[in-house]
Amino acid sequence: MPRFPWRVFWCIPNRKQDAEAWLRYNEGMTIPKTYVKKAAPFLKWAGGKQRLLPQYEPYFPPRELTGRYFEPFVGSAAVFFHLQPAHAVLADRNDKLIEVYEAVRDEVEAVIAALKPHRNESAYYYEVRAQDPCKLTRAERAARLIYLNKTCYNGLYRENSRGEFNVPFGRYKNPRICDEERLRLASQVLQGVSLQVADFEDVVSVAEEGDLVYFDPPYVPLSETSSFTAYHRLGFGEADQRRLADVVESLTERGCRVMLSNSSAPLVYELYDNGRFLLVPVQARRNINSKADRRGPVQELLILNYTPGEWRVR
Ligand SMILES: C[S@@+](CC[C@H](N)C(=O)[O-])C[C@H]1O[C@@H](n2cnc3c(N)ncnc32)[C@H](O)[C@@H]1O
Repeated sequence: MPRFPWRVFWCIPNRKQDAEAWLRYNEGMTIPKTYVKKAAPFLKWAGGKQRLLPQYEPYFPPRELTGRYFEPFVGSAAVFFHLQPAHAVLADRNDKLIEVYEAVRDEVEAVIAALKPHRNESAYYYEVRAQDPCKLTRAERAARLIYLNKTCYNGLYRENSRGEFNVPFGRYKNPRICDEERLRLASQVLQGVSLQVADFEDVVSVAEEGDLVYFDPPYVPLSETSSFTAYHRLGFGEADQRRLADVVESLTERGCRVMLSNSSAPLVYELYDNGRFLLVPVQARRNINSKADRRGPVQELLILNYTPGEWRVR
């Protein structure tokens, strides 16, 4: 006897994470009337949090308790697309990345039109990579970055000392260069969102009591070679990690809820394992490593300044 009537099968989603959500939803034999696709990242980003969301889920404060949402290291915005907060400030020091979000928010059809002609071919990739972005329109620049991200090696964003994207061609068989539905969904969720090119400290200087701040900085490396931190030519070193910990303390004093991801390196314990924060171990997989044997499971930390369930700032 099939568990569900036949008429629900036409709406089974094709992506694994959607399928899992769909199955969880159906556990109590509740049949969805229509399957609603959810916005999700349209860029692949080193340190992206999409796969960790199920582990993070119990720690997100309830929507009704949350004021504005700040995400100052936005990358591919996995947590933002998951939470879809009503009032959000998204920021990153990478101006090209923020421009892509602005273009997708304000002119998604122009971005889609500019993406469609791009092809997954090595010679063509290097031609596009060599283009002078200043000679393109904003929509064309956004499409160029999305194209390079979908077809480059490991979907990695890396700049040289002149601030130029310098990742080689990736040799994916059939990358989805133009996912129109995903871009349109992202555009809807980005309406009304404030986007900023800024250092994290400036972004959260206006956060107030009741606001939620999610920090996902470049991680403290577990060893000299283990972590990818070259998102930007300025890097993110120990002084930045210490500055971030001071900012977290200041937000805590102001009554903001803070959630922070980082590695389980000794410096992270030194900065946050002081009784004022909750340190939750999270199991992750590291993908950005040229050596396949170093891509296995790794323990990371989710650091909270509030207690789940009570949700009060500690
Ligand atoms: C680990 S990634 C964020 C990944 C993101 N949570 C996701 O799901 O894709 C870190 C981001 O921080 C940005 N970044 C580095 N230093 C920064 C700074 N000082 N202020 C703001 N953003 C910074 C990088 O450009 C990068 O996009």
